[in-house]
Amino acid sequence: MQTIHTIQKLRLAVQKARTEGKSIGFVPTMGAFHQGHLSLIQRCKKDHGLCVVSIFVNPTQFGPKEDYRNYPRDKRRDCRMAAAAGADVVFYPSVEEMYPFGCCSLVDVPDVTKTLCGKSRPHHFRGVATVVAKLFLIVNPDQAYFGQKDYQQTVVIQKMARDLNFPVKIRVIATVREPDGLAMSSRNIYLTPQERSEATVLFASLQAAKRSVGKGEKDPKAIKALIRSMIIRTSGRIDYIECADAQTLRPVPRLEGRCVIALAVFFGKARLIDNIILQI
Ligand code: PAJ
Repeated sequence: MQTIHTIQKLRLAVQKARTEGKSIGFVPTMGAFHQGHLSLIQRCKKDHGLCVVSIFVNPTQFGPKEDYRNYPRDKRRDCRMAAAAGADVVFYPSVEEMYPFGCCSLVDVPDVTKTLCGKSRPHHFRGVATVVAKLFLIVNPDQAYFGQKDYQQTVVIQKMARDLNFPVKIRVIATVREPDGLAMSSRNIYLTPQERSEATVLFASLQAAKRSVGKGEKDPKAIKALIRSMIIRTSGRIDYIECADAQTLRPVPRLEGRCVIALAVFFGKARLIDNIILQI
């Protein structure tokens, strides 16, 4: 596996693979790998001749009070894990390489960035869309892989790719969970043992919601109340619980069609998110 730090060298590596007739798959990440990331890389390698993984802790998607400085970084561990999962190239640019002095153009995707996580993280998705647009233009992949765990992110990226005519297919891969249901996340390391065991309530409450919808409950208010009643028995502090249209991410007056039930809850310092998609 090659580790590449500059845009110029990355372009050359991709061009060489193209001349060899290989298709290009791409997995953008911020490192701190767990099985969730590795499942994207494994899938990408299965589908493509060249699997490119970027590792870049993107400063523009963190709010001023968020964990940019303390975000876990371990280049050697991540490169070893990426190679074992099948990555052919790790693109590991510096902040100066991605955002040279004076770089100020932004990609803003309206509407779908205003709901759910967008309410408490106002500029987050602008940072995500901007860096992913830059990475798409650098890597020029045939397909790019994203996790359902960050469902709103997948919707924002799909919308951006469509609106701006990026010739890339977005693949969404199922959330990888711990055996007790907690969605794997780089931020789970911030949890105390007590918070870690309480955090299982997130997936448990989504499952309870799914069962309730299955029994005929279609009122989002009742579903949200059910989820809330389970979470408030723990130390979790609710940021939001929402039932939204899976495509527009607008809150729905009634659960029907393709919906997402999404939530964000703080346990101690860690803000955890999870979601399920329902086809009703
Ligand atoms: P990061 O949080 O490192 O996640 C990289 C990719 O891994 C994302 O597509 C995310 O949805 C996926 N992922 C994380 N946890 C997962 C899990 N438990 N199961 C399946 N997939 C999971 O998301 C980002 O980085 C950044 O916003 C990025 C897109 C790289 C832009 O900076």
